[in-house]
Amino acid sequence: MDSPLASRVESLRHQFPALSRTLDGRPVVFFDGPAGTQVPQRVIGAIGRYLAECNANHGGHFATAVESDRRLDEAHAAYARFVGASDPDEIAFGQNMTSLTFALSRALSKTWKAGDEVVVTRLDHDANVTPWIRAAEDAGATVRFVDIDPESCTLDMKSFHAALGERTRLVAFGGASNSVGTLNPIGDLVRAAKQFGALVFVDAVHLAPHRRLQVERWGCDFLVCSPYKFFGPHLGVMWGRRELLERLPAYKVRPAPESLPGRWMTGTQSHESICGAVAAIDYLADLGRDLAGDSSLSDSVAWDRAFDEVERYEGGLAKRFLAGVAELPAWKVWGANDPRDVDGRVSTFALTHRRYPSAETARRLGERGIFAWHGNYYALQLSERLGREPEGMLRIGMVHYNTTQEVDRLLSELAAID
Ligand SMILES: Cc1ncc(COP(=O)(O)O)c(C=O)c1O
Repeated sequence: MDSPLASRVESLRHQFPALSRTLDGRPVVFFDGPAGTQVPQRVIGAIGRYLAECNANHGGHFATAVESDRRLDEAHAAYARFVGASDPDEIAFGQNMTSLTFALSRALSKTWKAGDEVVVTRLDHDANVTPWIRAAEDAGATVRFVDIDPESCTLDMKSFHAALGERTRLVAFGGASNSVGTLNPIGDLVRAAKQFGALVFVDAVHLAPHRRLQVERWGCDFLVCSPYKFFGPHLGVMWGRRELLERLPAYKVRPAPESLPGRWMTGTQSHESICGAVAAIDYLADLGRDLAGDSSLSDSVAWDRAFDEVERYEGGLAKRFLAGVAELPAWKVWGANDPRDVDGRVSTFALTHRRYPSAETARRLGERGIFAWHGNYYALQLSERLGREPEGMLRIGMVHYNTTQEVDRLLSELAAID
């Protein structure tokens, strides 16, 4: 494949210890990235170094606490840059996307009244649906669902526009589907929601390993992502506009700080995971510098470069996979499946076999050393809308450490399941 990343993929794979795992003497293939990617050694090192060098709680007047606070402050600044913002106080870390979203939805519901409206979509992970339904129930607000086009598995834009109105308080949608890989036109959706003065919440959990995050450019109000989906440890990150994070009524214990950034972070954080999460985005920045052949690039420019190349490289994997699977009549790829047109999707594919349930196909692949998920992966509305409940679909998720050889091996294993 003709891409600068393609020529580096073998060497960058050496940075990920898990990728050397074997089964029956053959390398294992990790196509389970949408549920959590593997991590480079520097992430493992950063977690260990935090615990070895400065394992302490906040605000102490002694060396380890001071050093711990310094690393955590840096983490807020680094993640603000990573999501395309500049204010470190606008970043909150938390256990995962789901708990951060519940905390925010509960707070937002305090600002809603009966008759207000909240918009969610049938393309989303349930963590971007149920928290808003619960919050709407608390406030007596109405939930409006945006439908999808079941053929292309894209948002039905007519339905999206019809869901918006003068009473819309919040619009919640994802950056990319964690099931069928559809990319949403984030900027367009934000602009439409803003015409009605609604707040916009973007679930970028599935987008973050594949595309550069750009909150300021998109004009959204909140964005969530989870570093364990982009080469880091299990953790969630929320970005929100300062004025909103300061004004919304966060649930707090006393005497925890009411000020940012602590306001949206409950209890003691997983400091070691936060340090690991910084190492994950440092890895991506260094990837960008390496690809550009310029070690002086700022983090932001380096991430731009890294994600440009990731997009090109993963697009090549997607084309190869879609062209190959089109030759296998026993398999159906849901959503965008034309190998000539991969621009509207990331390299995540939901497949079904004409005979075998998804769990059975995932088990067979697993036995052959290809790790992939089955079921609905919590994209419940979509799975229901496509008539795939309760069996779901096989999910193949490719990230930039996957290779064309792995795609070819997958295709021959899929062919063997007839
Ligand atoms: C698109 C999407 N949103 C939200 C989530 C939930 O993330 P977390 O596990 O960090 O709560 C996931 C997890 O799979 C996801 O893929």
